[in-house]
Amino acid sequence: MRKKVIIDCDPGIDDSLALMLALSMEEIEVLGITIVCGNVPVELGFANAKKVLRHMNRLDIPVYIGETRPLRREYVSAQDTHGEDGLGESFLPDVPGYRQKLSAVSYIIRTLREERCSVLALGPMTNLARALMADEEAFACLDEIVSMGGNFKSHGNCSPVAEYNYWCDPDAAAFVYEKMAGLGKLVHMIGLDVTRKIVLTPNLLSYLRRLDERHGAFVEAITKFYFDFHWEWEHIIGCVINDPLAVAYFADRSLCSGFAAYTAVETGGVSMGQSVVDQMGFLKREPNSIVLTETNALEFFYTFFGRLLHRSREDLDLLDQLC
Ligand code: RIB
Ligand code: CA
Repeated sequence: MRKKVIIDCDPGIDDSLALMLALSMEEIEVLGITIVCGNVPVELGFANAKKVLRHMNRLDIPVYIGETRPLRREYVSAQDTHGEDGLGESFLPDVPGYRQKLSAVSYIIRTLREERCSVLALGPMTNLARALMADEEAFACLDEIVSMGGNFKSHGNCSPVAEYNYWCDPDAAAFVYEKMAGLGKLVHMIGLDVTRKIVLTPNLLSYLRRLDERHGAFVEAITKFYFDFHWEWEHIIGCVINDPLAVAYFADRSLCSGFAAYTAVETGGVSMGQSVVDQMGFLKREPNSIVLTETNALEFFYTFFGRLLHRSREDLDLLDQLC
C-alpha cells in the first residue's frame, strides 16, 4: 500500500534532493507539494520546486504557494547556504506558469479532510501552524508528521543550540508540537543528530555521476555551492543532505532509531528555536515526538542511489567503500 504524503518544503538544495528521492520511491505517493518561506522566499521556492519536477518529468504534481513570512519573527532566509537562487546558484531556466489558485494552507486542510495522508515537513512549520489554527479538526485524520528539524544532543546550525527550520519560525514549531500533543499524535523528529551523518562527499557525487550522467549532472549543479559553504562553516569535505533522510525514513523506519519523548520548542531568548527534548520525563508530559538519534549512512545511500537510479544493492558495489 503506497503511503500518501504532502511534502511541505523550502527548496532549497537538500529539499530538492528529497523531492527527487520521494518521487523515485514506489512506496510513496506524493499528493502535492506545498512551499513555505525558509531557505528562500516562497516565490523562489515555488520556482525551484518546478525545476525539480521538470528534471524528474513529474510536472503532474501540483505545487502550492504558502506563507511568505514566519508567524511572529522577522523572516531570515538561508540564501547564504543555498545560494541566491536557492539551488546553489545553478540558475537553471524557469518553468513558466503552473500556479495553483489554492493556497498551501487551504490545500493542506482540504487534502487532510479528503484522505488519510501524512506530511513530510522539510522546512519551517509555518504552513502547518497556519493550517492547524484554521482547522485543527482536519488534523484528526492526519497519519503522521515526519519533520526534518530540531536537534537532541547535536549542536545547532544557525545558533549554538537551534536548527534552522525551528529557528526560522520557532513559534510555528512550538505550536505544532503542542497541538500534536493535544491530538495524541507524534512528530517524528529527524534532527541534526542523525542528518549530520548523511554527507554527500565528492566521491559519492562522482559515483552518482558515473552511474547516471543526467541525475549526476543535476545534483552536481545544485550542490557545488553547498560544498563550499560546508567547507567554510562546518569544515567538512562534502555537504550534509538533511531532508532526503526524512524521506527515506518515512518509507523505511529501519533507517533511523530513537525514542519517544515530550518535546517543546523554545520561542525566545538566546536559545530561540531550540528543540527541548524531555528524555527523562521531568515535565511529566505524554510524548508528542519520536526523536531519532541513530542512523546508518551507508544504508541511506543504498536507498537514495538505489531508488533514484533504479539500481540494486549489487549494482551499487562501490558504495560500501565510499561511505
Ligand atoms: O537545518 C537544515 C534544514 O533547514 C533543512 O531542511 C534545510 O533545507 C533547511 O530548510
Ligand atoms: Ca528544507
